Amino acid sequence: MTDLLLLPGDGIGPEVTAQVRRVANRLANDLTIDERPFGGTSFDQLGTPLADETLTQAKAAKAVLMGAVGGPQWANAPRDKRPEAGLLGLRAGMGVFANLRPAICFQPLAGASTLKREVIEGLDLMIVRELTGGVYFGKPRGIEDLPGGGRRGVDTQVYTTAEIERIARVAFELARGRKNKVHSAEKSNVMETGLLWRQVVTDLHSREYADVELEHILADNAAMQLVKNPKQFDVMVTDNLFGDILSDEAAQLTGSLGMLPSAALGAPGTPGLYEPIHGSAPDIAGQGIANPLAAILSFEMALRWSLGRADLADKLYAAVGKALEKGARTPDLGGQLTTIEMADAVLTEL
Ligand code: IPM
Ligand code: MG
Repeated sequence: MTDLLLLPGDGIGPEVTAQVRRVANRLANDLTIDERPFGGTSFDQLGTPLADETLTQAKAAKAVLMGAVGGPQWANAPRDKRPEAGLLGLRAGMGVFANLRPAICFQPLAGASTLKREVIEGLDLMIVRELTGGVYFGKPRGIEDLPGGGRRGVDTQVYTTAEIERIARVAFELARGRKNKVHSAEKSNVMETGLLWRQVVTDLHSREYADVELEHILADNAAMQLVKNPKQFDVMVTDNLFGDILSDEAAQLTGSLGMLPSAALGAPGTPGLYEPIHGSAPDIAGQGIANPLAAILSFEMALRWSLGRADLADKLYAAVGKALEKGARTPDLGGQLTTIEMADAVLTEL
């Protein structure tokens, strides 16, 4: 049985997941680790971005850790063969509907943000993004020719009460273990799904989570408030598309996209999918300078949420903090360490 399935994927994915393997070997050498091609790399080798055996193995593992997918070389592949389609297929196939995207400002990096130090110092917010519904998966979708010339593109935003309720539940539960505050972001002023979202979250809150502070916020205002005063937020729950956008924004608050991990969770007892949120970064792929900390921190989340090893997760988190405190920096953080040297700095602290 596989404890951890690594899907290095494309771009800088293989470089950063290789460092996860080193850290895992040091920290928990009893873990069984397997690896499968994924994304564009899988398309090149196997003709599909997500092979059936890969999904089967992912569902049978305790945790799956993905590096990154995508790159310009696959931009013209048919949509269902694109690397991104592999990732969406994996998320849907694993049923990981709750995407936890923390934005934490490590103290030594408070000066690395493009925002003023006082705005982001001490930042610790969690975006809970719905991951297997909404406009990413809604039908109908497609591009069709119009009889009189021209074409028409259609995407469908759709949510059911059950989908909204289960993601809101995750947010409320998380908030109880944090600062007990949830912001629910949607566009109920213009969208039907937004209106339903607000109603369902309100109902669930009054039925089961009245002890948690709940605020509804329009998604555009949330985007503005995130740069104005991000520390007002504790947990923010939102749909798939808004979550995609707002989590990139939140990530950059902390100084570098290269720092942030994520966890995608499904029903209790099913494997989680862990991903650094930085993407494949084709511009620096193959140079050995990518920051491996987002991937290493994704492994930290896997230890905590899927592998039942919170003790080791604490150790790893502390080691990353220590390494940063001692000045370890890859180029994205204004330093000169290579990917391997950054991982070395963490290993030293372990
Ligand atoms: C993310 C990415 C993906 C998404 C892409 C690569 C399909 O942007 O994980 O945020 O849009 O969900
Ligand atoms: Mg994204």
